[in-house]
Amino acid sequence: MKMHSLPFSLDRADLKGKRVLLRVDLNVPVDEHGDVRDHERIVQVLPTINYILYSGARQVIMVSHHGRPHGKRDPRQSLRGVWRYFREMLAYDCHFVDDCMSGEIPERKLVLLENLRFHIGEEANDPEFARRLASYADIYVNDAFGSYQPHASVVGVPDYLDAYCGFLFQKEVQALSLDEIRHPLVFLLGGDKASTKLPIIGRISARADHVLIGGVLTFYFLKAMGVEIGKSKFSPEYVDHARRLLDRSNVVLPTDLIAATEPTQDAKTRVCAIRDIRPDEMGLDIGPETFARYKEILSGAGTIVWNGPMGLYEVEQFAGHTDGLARHMARLDATTIAGGGDSITVLNKLGLFKEFTYVSTGGGATLKFLEDGTLPALEALRSAWERRHGGGNDSDGESRGKGTKVSA
Ligand code: 3PG
Repeated sequence: MKMHSLPFSLDRADLKGKRVLLRVDLNVPVDEHGDVRDHERIVQVLPTINYILYSGARQVIMVSHHGRPHGKRDPRQSLRGVWRYFREMLAYDCHFVDDCMSGEIPERKLVLLENLRFHIGEEANDPEFARRLASYADIYVNDAFGSYQPHASVVGVPDYLDAYCGFLFQKEVQALSLDEIRHPLVFLLGGDKASTKLPIIGRISARADHVLIGGVLTFYFLKAMGVEIGKSKFSPEYVDHARRLLDRSNVVLPTDLIAATEPTQDAKTRVCAIRDIRPDEMGLDIGPETFARYKEILSGAGTIVWNGPMGLYEVEQFAGHTDGLARHMARLDATTIAGGGDSITVLNKLGLFKEFTYVSTGGGATLKFLEDGTLPALEALRSAWERRHGGGNDSDGESRGKGTKVSA
């Protein structure tokens, strides 16, 4: 898909004097003080913010989710740290509104509203929630490629405002619309977020040559196999998804782990087989045998899609095998695609960002886009456009171009 082909591309919007509601994905890793640990998602959306600010718009009102607070006000998931980053590190005169539903939007050029997910209306795709957000602005722009879930600020708001697609979103769509996949196609999936990853591993494994599992995802499979996982992180409701994948011969599980009784830098660790985790231990990284096996499979790959760390990478002593595999992938001749906040943080830490073929700001979004060739957000923008303007009507006849599915 060519970037200029979308009839609802941001560069086609008349922004003069308008208040713009800008959906961004500011779901960035933060430390215990709420300070930004990796700014990649923020930096990548700056071209869109700057474009709107300097196109004569009256105001830009940024909205985003952070974490998964599920309708509760959780200070650890506040966007205040991101706001500070805009002000202190990027020198934007950005103003903060403590409650996205308060309706009190200051007449300032750049405003950031507090976490949308502090209200359940966001996740529930409540039309009233969407209508209220829409009431703040004249135009809606979505540049949150990473926000793939059908939530109110993503799929609801375009019902009420003229809606456009931002530049980062379009860049991601263009880069991930792979015409041809070089096989073997290998997915390396780790991290957490079982609720979004496990349900799509079945479809991914139908197309991929190998799906290598690491991180917290591992424990859902071990539980499904009836293996004792000690204090390892997991939540019971997604074990059934893992159980349905156990007979897939191309879904590869760790054979060993690094375990400890505490997830801390000075905790005593040991390498153990997956069936040998003690009740007071938790698995915190893949083990050396798994690392070697995954390295070998990745070495033969034509295309690699990497999403999520292999262990608790935030603690240095459990980051070794995630770092090792990232370094290994960076050296390969394969097409290497990485996605997700944690993978980006690792690549930035290791200075390997540019060694990958493409690094996406999306996590689950990247997987979903590669699988479906589109996202709920893109379809919402498309239908809103067609409702308002009666069809594609683009200049080069490519307005309907969806991403290409990853196919075997
Ligand atoms: C992400 O980090 O992948 C996106 O911000 C989406 O977050 P979610 O999976 O909690 O919807």
